[in-house]
Amino acid sequence: MRLTDCYNFHDFRRMAKQRLPGPIFDYIDGAADDEVTYRRNTAAFENCDLVPDVLRGVADVDMSVTVMGQKLAMPVYCSPTALQRLFHHQGERAVAAAAAKYGTMFGVSSLGTISLEEARQISSGPQVYQFYFHKDRGLNREMMARAKTAGVQAMMLTVDSITGGNRERDKRTGFSIPFKLNLAGMTQFAIKPSWAIGWLTHERFALPQLESHVKMDGGALSISRYFTEMLDPSMSWNDVAEMVQAWGGQFCLKGIMSVEDAKRAVEIGCTGIVLSNHGGRQLDGSRSAFDQLAEIVDAVGDRIDVMMDGGVQRGTHVLKALSLGAKAVGLGRYYLFPLAAAGQPGVERALETMRTEIERGMKLMGCTSVSQLTRRNLRFRA
Ligand code: LAC
Repeated sequence: MRLTDCYNFHDFRRMAKQRLPGPIFDYIDGAADDEVTYRRNTAAFENCDLVPDVLRGVADVDMSVTVMGQKLAMPVYCSPTALQRLFHHQGERAVAAAAAKYGTMFGVSSLGTISLEEARQISSGPQVYQFYFHKDRGLNREMMARAKTAGVQAMMLTVDSITGGNRERDKRTGFSIPFKLNLAGMTQFAIKPSWAIGWLTHERFALPQLESHVKMDGGALSISRYFTEMLDPSMSWNDVAEMVQAWGGQFCLKGIMSVEDAKRAVEIGCTGIVLSNHGGRQLDGSRSAFDQLAEIVDAVGDRIDVMMDGGVQRGTHVLKALSLGAKAVGLGRYYLFPLAAAGQPGVERALETMRTEIERGMKLMGCTSVSQLTRRNLRFRA
């Protein structure tokens, strides 16, 4: 399969599956428990229909949005995700460069495999730093200071991962970081040669955001153990309020779902929230962000920038979320499979596909700007 054969999410996913060792594919593709929430995230968009207007003069479409003070050329951004150099040796470098090319925001994760400083050199566009609240408060302070010095525009604290989700695919495959070179791992090297050559001929796996504080000791850490052992489950609204004060800039919480919490985020001075269930990877059975979006926008949408992520595979999914009041929409697996499949050209092709779909969709909806997308043009099925 070639990159030019990829026209949508499913094509990129199939190509990634061909190229990746099974445990790595399953780490990206998998979710918690029965993966009900993972499936629901995309299905939710299908309960909602678009009602287009016609004859509106749509020769020129402006799909730019402003979110957390950042102007994005398109209303989607690359959500911060972990371990990208494990998926393709270009990793975060490819994603940062592709995001810059398409004028949009991207994020570097606490579990990123290049440093947030290096990412800042690659893209001059908006960058968020995805932050986990570690038990080690010194590490938390150091991470914020580094992000500030590097010129990262927005802090994004993930609040839905204070313990590991039950990812049974990872349990079955024994997925851990760094990817273990046991017998099963070596078999993967043999049967997935293109991935293996990239992995073996490029710099060693590293977690530069964590390495000054975390001793990997050559041992392997599962994602679940990282969440459970290193993150602080006692994290409270007071802790976060202090961080928001200390940062003194754009600060958003990723993983907010309830109206109550959205209001608290406003009260402690956050400038954004991301409705998210972590791609179905944490609490299975939790509601999809799209289903929950209207309630949250109605409660706080005039006081804070509401974003959402989860299950977005099509330009029309983005149009539906924007019509309900989201300011921008995050992509995760949507760009990770293309990264795994083909590196930077893959991510660029995915963003180009999304850009084209959004533009076409806006024209067919009779809209020339994102502000014209409203609930008037949506109907929910009973
Ligand atoms: C995950 C974390 C690392 O979902 O974001 O695997």
